[in-house]
Amino acid sequence: MGKKTMLSGMRPTGALHLGNYFGALENWVKLQDEYDCYYFIADWHALTTGYEDTSELKSNINSMVIDWLSAGLDPEKCTIFLQSSVKEHAELHLLFSMMTPLSWLYRCPTYKDQLAQLKDRNITTYGFLGYPCLQAADILMYKAAAVPVGEDQVPHVELTREMARRFNYIFGEVFPEPQAKLTKAKVLPGTDGRKMSKSYNNTIALSDDPDTVRKKVMSMVTDPARIRKDDPGHPEVCTVFSFHKVFNEEGVADTEAQCRAGSIGCVQCKKELCSKMALKLTPIYEKRLELSAKPEYIREVVEKGNARARATAEKTMSEVRKAMKIDW
Ligand code: TRP
Repeated sequence: MGKKTMLSGMRPTGALHLGNYFGALENWVKLQDEYDCYYFIADWHALTTGYEDTSELKSNINSMVIDWLSAGLDPEKCTIFLQSSVKEHAELHLLFSMMTPLSWLYRCPTYKDQLAQLKDRNITTYGFLGYPCLQAADILMYKAAAVPVGEDQVPHVELTREMARRFNYIFGEVFPEPQAKLTKAKVLPGTDGRKMSKSYNNTIALSDDPDTVRKKVMSMVTDPARIRKDDPGHPEVCTVFSFHKVFNEEGVADTEAQCRAGSIGCVQCKKELCSKMALKLTPIYEKRLELSAKPEYIREVVEKGNARARATAEKTMSEVRKAMKIDW
């Protein structure tokens, strides 16, 4: 009671990786104690770029819920739900679409970027252009005060604020303006040193078993200038070192000094990293195994969350219909 509402969502596009974990999920877990949090799976948003092949959608949704719970989201503390199960999102999206100027949508940087990047797909669609309009509906439905997101989502939250202002101006005060709450993300590169991304094939997934994680770490590229074990190293160019910074906060200063002095070899350094990573990741992995064996529990979590989300959504929609006088 009296807690501020927070809302965030992810598209179910496949196994979550450590970049997603440190970029968002870890923070979501912390926020569930302080705020009234709604976390949802944006399956309709996944259709905006992937409507042709929906064969993996259901399994991606399940595995995302499992990833969330394994990482520490607690359904007793936060509301976990599926966008397409709360039909009010579609209604509010429709109503917003009536009052959203096309120019807002065309100038959205994510629209331009994705069109340029996803050249192999036909996304010159109505739904894809309207992506931010659906996102505004997601956020405003729960009157969220804050939206924890990464930098790339800021334009969408900005557009949501404009949407709220426009609606309130035309129909009277219904929606508060949400703030983007930028995650202070720990930067974890992919196993090849580039940004961790599924399309680069350089991820470590939360669902990777400990042996796979170890193999991925052991094959990481280190400082190319270190030929012999006692050559002085340059941690600033080393992927393994970036991982130490995230997984080995207490020991990273020592590791750095040993690397610069050439007193620790790369193999040893990787082994030490593996044991630090295991401390953090093995419990998540084990929880994941346990939850994967309980599909009926996963369903129950989402259905309870759906019901809770729906109750709020129904309330908001009756205010909206009333304000717009479409409550005949
Ligand atoms: N667009 C977000 C992403 O790609 C997912 C999303 C959909 C979302 N609706 C949202 C995030 C509402 C925050 C709030 O990551």
